Amino acid sequence: MNSTARVLVVDDEKLIRWSVSERLARRGYQVETAESGERALELITSATPDVALLDVRLPGLDGVATLRRALTLNPELVVVMMSAHSTVDVAVEAMKHGAVDFLVKPFPLATLDEVVERALSAASTRKQIATRATPGNGHAAALAAMVGNAPVVNEVRELVSRLAASNATTVLIEGESGSGKEVVARSIHYASARADRPFLQLNCATLPEQLLESELFGHERGAFTDARAQKRGLFENADGGSVMLDEIGDLPAGGQAKLLRLLEDKTFRRVGGITQLHVDVRVIAATNVNLAERVQEGLFRADLFFRLNVVRIRVPPLRERKEDLPLLAAHFVSKYNQELKREVRYISPPALELLVGYGWPGNVRELRNVIERAFILHPSADELRPEHLPQEIREARLPAPPAAEQGDGVMSLTAAERRLILEAMDKSHGNQSQAARLLGISRDTLRYRLKKFGLL
Ligand SMILES: Nc1ncnc2c1ncn2[C@@H]1O[C@H](COP(=O)(O)OP(=O)(O)OP(=O)(O)O)[C@@H](O)[C@H]1O
Ligand SMILES: [Mg+2]
Repeated sequence: MNSTARVLVVDDEKLIRWSVSERLARRGYQVETAESGERALELITSATPDVALLDVRLPGLDGVATLRRALTLNPELVVVMMSAHSTVDVAVEAMKHGAVDFLVKPFPLATLDEVVERALSAASTRKQIATRATPGNGHAAALAAMVGNAPVVNEVRELVSRLAASNATTVLIEGESGSGKEVVARSIHYASARADRPFLQLNCATLPEQLLESELFGHERGAFTDARAQKRGLFENADGGSVMLDEIGDLPAGGQAKLLRLLEDKTFRRVGGITQLHVDVRVIAATNVNLAERVQEGLFRADLFFRLNVVRIRVPPLRERKEDLPLLAAHFVSKYNQELKREVRYISPPALELLVGYGWPGNVRELRNVIERAFILHPSADELRPEHLPQEIREARLPAPPAAEQGDGVMSLTAAERRLILEAMDKSHGNQSQAARLLGISRDTLRYRLKKFGLL
């Protein structure tokens, strides 16, 4: 970023404001200062800084609260926290709310320079992502691979689309097991200009340290006992493309150091090698643990975390986007219709109700497995009904059933009505006219009731 980059320094101590802004101004940055969070928020709107250095402890609105409001005002702002030794944990906590880095006071001015430079490069990346338009070929198809329309999913898709357009940005994907991290990673790759180059992936939790490093970076002949020949690693093989590193939190220390180097200057050495090799890959890291917490526990390098954390995508668990369940279920039904040459045309409302009521600890993968299992165990079924579902789903009760429906045989009128409708729909295999006849009501009334109970 050029020297007219704007930096905002927020600290209630005059001496800090003065020394930091003096240094930054001398290095050619345009500097503003604020003595409180409130004032900082004003300046964020009026002076639009690229980077803010924000003290953790401020009178009035504290550092973390200021951070959160600042990012709401300007999501592209890159924030670095400043803290005393005694409040480092707060600074680390702040990273969970979107700060990218922190400085522990008193800090050498050289460290200040370094951190600001790194923050500015993150800022420039964020801007690029925010403004880059016109995606490449296959873009729409790659984005469509992610099924769902819940607002949280649309946000993810939007971010994926912008990331695909910015060619090299490192991405960190967080999400529970089975939530679709790989789907997101693939979409980023296949929607990007790298689409015709390899997408390779490796799970960092599955190999012992030495093998993992050699998988990733390759090795020279004789590097270790079993290294009979030279071997190219994943990064070399993916040159020009993308590498997904799954369960990045389990990458051992040696690998972390090498990866950091690769991210910073695109160079690395094979295990046992002396030659520096150069590659152009986009690294997409994924984790199902909170990486900031691993940093806090001393298990993951903070500097590598900052480097990976420039753009973070959170893939929400399925239970947070239940509105997508019918769409996802239909998607898997049609997938297995194709793969298994079947013609299942319908998911019965009671079956769908059970699917929506279940908690899905295994997320989308579990839903896929449940539907595949129903296809395989019931080869002649032409619709998906409750008895085709595994017991734990049939028995999972919807959260907060109407109180009157529990115990001593008392049932509310609404609950009874709902149950009758479900039964009729089930008996008539989803045929609305037939169900209406069974109930002795018009089809329109039935449709109205189905809508009222969220069954349509
Ligand atoms: N939004 C979606 N649309 C369609 N299919 C999806 C979606 N999300 C996940 N899937 C499917 O669900 C399964 C699990 O997804 P994926 O492998 O991406 O999860 P993951 O988060 O990488 O899991 P893990 O943490 O176990 O590696 C895959 O078969 C994937 O195709
Ligand atoms: Mg995965």
